[in-house]
Amino acid sequence: MAIPHYLQFKDLSRADIEYVFERARVIKDRFKRYEAYHPLADRTLVMIFEKASTRTRLSFEAGMHQLGGAAIYLNTRDSQLGRGEPVEDAAQVISRMCDLVMIRTFEQEVVERFAAHSRVPVINGLTNEYHPCQILADIFTFIEHRGDIQGRTVAWIGDSNNMCNTWLQAAEVLDFNVHVSTPPGYEVEPERAGLYGTSHFESFADPLQACQGAHLVTTDVWTSMGFEAENEARAQAFADWCVDAEMMAAADPQAVFMHCLPAHRGEEVTAAVIDGPQSVVWDEAENRLHVQKALMEFLVLGRIA
Ligand code: CP
Ligand code: NVA
Repeated sequence: MAIPHYLQFKDLSRADIEYVFERARVIKDRFKRYEAYHPLADRTLVMIFEKASTRTRLSFEAGMHQLGGAAIYLNTRDSQLGRGEPVEDAAQVISRMCDLVMIRTFEQEVVERFAAHSRVPVINGLTNEYHPCQILADIFTFIEHRGDIQGRTVAWIGDSNNMCNTWLQAAEVLDFNVHVSTPPGYEVEPERAGLYGTSHFESFADPLQACQGAHLVTTDVWTSMGFEAENEARAQAFADWCVDAEMMAAADPQAVFMHCLPAHRGEEVTAAVIDGPQSVVWDEAENRLHVQKALMEFLVLGRIA
């Protein structure tokens, strides 16, 4: 039987996502009531980090512990992974000793190669191309606040990065629209975003126009991890792509603001917006925990309800 992986958003069908969200609601509710729930007792998650993280590490490590299992943290500085061991060999060895693997790395190709040689499910914890766990949590958060996302409009303001690509894939799977506004030279590359080719997104030169009528306005850092050499050029190119009160006013009156965090106030978003009444960023961050617990349960145990 094929091993289920979550390497990009479209690895889950709409039905799978609905199931994972249903489980996330149950798991979150139990957590809030301090009810122990240990479906992954004696299971082990290995987390491999080639880039920095606060939320991803914490939500996976705490999440696995709360599900009754254990999590082991590996990085490239003090494991053989940074010393040239082929990713295929690492996958063979690591996957014989654990039940689940989460990887944060640079090229998407690395997680794909790891998964191809893994005996256990592999989760993408962020690559240059995608951040599927974050978008799963973001959509779960949107649904909690505003109901079904189908047919709604998400405004993506800023870089066509891993977050943007994943929103675009999610729009195809769950049938909503994305209005994208990037500075010239930083446009979406549909092939890199892994789109099916159906048109669920529209590009806007003017970020204010992209926000018109949007139900969700979201952005991310101007420079993602791994692209630090471009910092200065990006700071100049992105200066007008700061989500501010005017953009939020152009959106639907019920619009929410999201940011995967960490955020830079005064760059991609003003303090008034991210700390304002439409911002749901703390719920969004918390939901990484609940949604990923449901995802881990699903990948290891399949459908249990
Ligand atoms: N949003 C997110 O993935 O945060 P970390 O980089 O802290 O994991
Ligand atoms: N796009 C950002 C997201 C960080 C969580 C990055 O890749 O650095």
